Formats: sequence, structure tokens, C-alpha cells
Amino acid sequence: MTIRPNTSTRPNTSTSLYAKYAADAARNYEDHFVPAIGTPFARRLLATAKLAPGERVLDVACGTGLAARLAVEAVGPQGTVSGLDPTPGMLAMARSASPGGIDWYEAPAEAMPLPDAAFDVVLCSMGLQFFEDKEQGLREMRRVLAPGGRAVVSTPGPTPPLFEAIDAALTAHVGADASCFVHAVFSVHDPAEARQLFTGAGFDDVEIETGTVPLRVPPPADLFWQYVQSTPLAAVAAGLDEAARAALERDVVERCQPFVDGDATVMEPGVLVATGRVSGR
Ligand SMILES: C[S@@+](CC[C@H](N)C(=O)[O-])C[C@H]1O[C@@H](n2cnc3c(N)ncnc32)[C@H](O)[C@@H]1O
Repeated sequence: MTIRPNTSTRPNTSTSLYAKYAADAARNYEDHFVPAIGTPFARRLLATAKLAPGERVLDVACGTGLAARLAVEAVGPQGTVSGLDPTPGMLAMARSASPGGIDWYEAPAEAMPLPDAAFDVVLCSMGLQFFEDKEQGLREMRRVLAPGGRAVVSTPGPTPPLFEAIDAALTAHVGADASCFVHAVFSVHDPAEARQLFTGAGFDDVEIETGTVPLRVPPPADLFWQYVQSTPLAAVAAGLDEAARAALERDVVERCQPFVDGDATVMEPGVLVATGRVSGR
């Protein structure tokens, strides 16, 4: 299954939160997901990557360019940064939200239109779990790395209790199909499986770290619609009438109450950060 952010533009048909977040999916992603969730995860990835000035960095599954932008700061003017993603809407947002000087490539990780040995570091924040062929995506990361280079890849998971609650509401109101996206998001969290993928792709010195990322995110209804409207779940929501959407939202809010803290919702999802190195060829 290929899972990519929904890039359709839907008209505002009501004053509900569903409609409030019904703008372009990449815009939603950049405005809501990036500050609340993406940035803390990307900073966790960068902490392991320890980028050095002058390094040549490729951000794979770059989305709206978050990790690429952080990399620009870290490698400085002597370094170079590129971003790659197969979703045109995400790349368009990456271009407009990022400083000049970053090269952007529209392609899947499994088939990068990039030469061998062209980068010192490949970053991938919260993207690997969506690859149709994960080992092939990692093989491509290894191919574009120079000898001595490293790929640093993070994935979220296992499914945090807050998203179990959201998943339960989706399953109850829409059906099990709707919950498969949530499961896919948090599907790569087993250190043994990650190690196997990296070694299978030919990486040496594979290191796996696991931890958690504490987050304070918007209140449940806002969080839910922001999330839905920047993912393929938007298509599911678009198929519901207004009454069904309202019932779904009420159920989400009720199930998420245990996680509400003042004006925020709190969660501490797990994160896996895998590093694979390329020894001399
Ligand atoms: C959750 S977003 C992460 C974006 C960005 N790395 C960040 O941290 O904000 C997942 C991204 O994976 C991309 N993606 C999905 N399948 C992919 C594939 N096969 N190769 C590369 N990227 C893919 C999507 O287009 C999307 O931009």
C-alpha cells in the first residue's frame, strides 16, 4: 500500500473544525503537524545525526522540508542540503517554506534519481514506515552515500495510547479500513526488525536507539481534524456527511479526555532512531 498525504483541495462547506482544516493537505501539514509533532521528532533525529559543518546531506521523505531546513543550519555555508519526496504537494510546500540553495527531487526513496556516493549523510524522519519496499529504499540510501557516510533514520512507534483512542473511534465510526493508516504510521518500531532491514540493505555498524518524544499537542478535536486533513484519512472524512463527522468528532473527544491537560493534549510517543554506516567500497 502506498500512503502519501492527500493533496486535494476541498472547499469550506461549514464552520466546523473539519472545514477549518480543509485547506491543502501540505499546508495543514506545515502549519500544524510540523510545529506540534514533526519538529520535536526531527530534532531527535538531528541529535543522533550530529551533522558537521561542510557535510553533504540528503533528506529522504523530506515532506515539507523540515529536516532539510534544520540541516542547513548545521552544515553551514560549506555544506550542501538536498530533499527528496514523491509527493508533489509536499515538495511545493518545501520549496516555499525553505531558504534557497536546497536542491529538491520528486521521487520515491526506492528509485532516487541521484548519483552514487554523492552524500555524507542521509536523513529520514518519519518516512521509512511508508515506503512500499523498505529494504530497497535503504539500499538506495546506501548507494548514494560516500564511503564513510551514514544514514540516520527515525520512525515513530509503537502506537501511543492517544492514537489507540483515535483509532478506536475511527474503527467504530468508519470501519477497520480507516484505522490501517494509523497502524502504518507506527508500524516500524521493533529494533530487531530495523536492524534486519539495515543489514539486509548492506549497511555496516548498525546502531539502534529507542526513546520517547514528549509532546503537548492541540486539544483533541483540533488535533484530530488537523491530522485527518493532512493525511490520506481526509478522503475517508470527505465520504462522511456532516452528522457522521460530528458523531465521530464527539467520540474522539470523549475517548481522548484522559490525555487532556489544560488547553493541550499530551502524549509521549516512542521513537526508533537507526544509524547505518557505509564502510569503504
Ligand atoms: C510523515 S511525512 C514526514 C515528512 C518529513 N520527513 C517530516 O519529518 O516532516 C512522510 C513523508 O513520506 C513521504 N513518502 C511516502 N512514501 C515515500 C517513499 N516511497 N519514498 C520517499 N518518501 C515517501 C510522503 O510523501 C511524506 O512526505
